[in-house]
Amino acid sequence: MRWQVPAADNIQAQADYLIRHPVPSGFKGIIFTDRAGNWLPIANAGYMVYWCNTGQIPVGAMGMSEQMLRMSVADFARTYWGIQLADKRLVVDILQNKVKETAVLLPITSNTGGVGKTTSSRQLADRASQAGLRVLLIDGNIRQSSQRSFFDPRQDKPLHTIADWRPGMQVQVGANRGRDLGVPYDICFAPPAGVGVDWQIYRQYIQAARRLWDFVVLDLDRISADDLDDRENIANGLLLPYIQSGDPCLVIVKAGRQTQIDALNLLTALAEHHLPKELIGIKDTVPVGLQGYRRLDYTRYGTFLGTEYQTVEASNHIANGDVRWDDPGLAFARENILNWALPDRGFNPERFNPNAKNSEGKKGRGRK
Ligand SMILES: Nc1ncnc2c1ncn2[C@@H]1O[C@H](COP(=O)(O)OP(=O)(O)OP(=O)(O)O)[C@@H](O)[C@H]1O
Ligand SMILES: [Mg+2]
Repeated sequence: MRWQVPAADNIQAQADYLIRHPVPSGFKGIIFTDRAGNWLPIANAGYMVYWCNTGQIPVGAMGMSEQMLRMSVADFARTYWGIQLADKRLVVDILQNKVKETAVLLPITSNTGGVGKTTSSRQLADRASQAGLRVLLIDGNIRQSSQRSFFDPRQDKPLHTIADWRPGMQVQVGANRGRDLGVPYDICFAPPAGVGVDWQIYRQYIQAARRLWDFVVLDLDRISADDLDDRENIANGLLLPYIQSGDPCLVIVKAGRQTQIDALNLLTALAEHHLPKELIGIKDTVPVGLQGYRRLDYTRYGTFLGTEYQTVEASNHIANGDVRWDDPGLAFARENILNWALPDRGFNPERFNPNAKNSEGKKGRGRK
């Protein structure tokens, strides 16, 4: 399920597609599946089909050891084939020899409110654009249109929102050019107050947008552990399937006794959904003036990407509507997140590492 063939969730249509598109000579085609069925026609089309489940191995598939089953696809490829997985093109693009990659999608969420999701998504979009990527920021705050409030506080600019778009239309119908908003990235705003757009529309919009932009940042609402199991919720209907198919997700944790406990709730629930840890990125934010911050050990839940130190200065910039400012308290975590989501694209966290010269330990604890 790491890449989607065009038939989305319809397994039979995917199978038919693969049979009609046998593995080209000189290539290897590998399928990981947990669906029982007759895999022989697909094996005959040249694919190696690995059975990622226990129980009877279906015809045409190969069994895997228990140790292999515990690995993520990325770990498996690294261990057995020495391959570093970074290529996220859709199967259909590879088979049809299209070279352009499908954009990496980075959803940003948290378990508690006000942790800096909306601000961070602008920061990440801004830095990625500076590095030469064509970036789209999508506001997924379905009920509060947070990005619109920032860019258009009086709500009087003639801006496009996702509510303007319908499946089949050009993606640009839902997006606004960055240059009209004074930023180097484009933005798709959430629907205006009182207009409902559900996550199925978001999914289709994202699917289309990924073919046009290089990097799509999705500013999501907070979600709870229960939301992951609620079929009506964006967390279940949109976020989980994306992570399952190989997209990363950034979870922001606000330092503080209760907020850290709340965050662990969500991280535990994500772990219980067997999502690959390398796809769950975690950032801590430490509010201005907070004493005694202690980072949690996240090894069981995901990949820790850094701590962002919030300052009064930064909050003034945000309140004034500034879109860019130099802030050493943000730069390292931001660069680290981008290098994780977009490997090999020239992001260099070490350049921004406040502890770079004495990096062997906690010497940077008393940082300014
Ligand atoms: N780096 C920072 N330094 C100082 N203040 C910050 C920083 N990042 C965010 N803030 C402040 O924290 C508050 C919440 O930020 P933001 O709206 O980005 O969070 P959020 O997680 O998107 O919130 P919500 O859950 O409401 O969507 C804002 O008032 C913002 O100005
Ligand atoms: Mg927000």
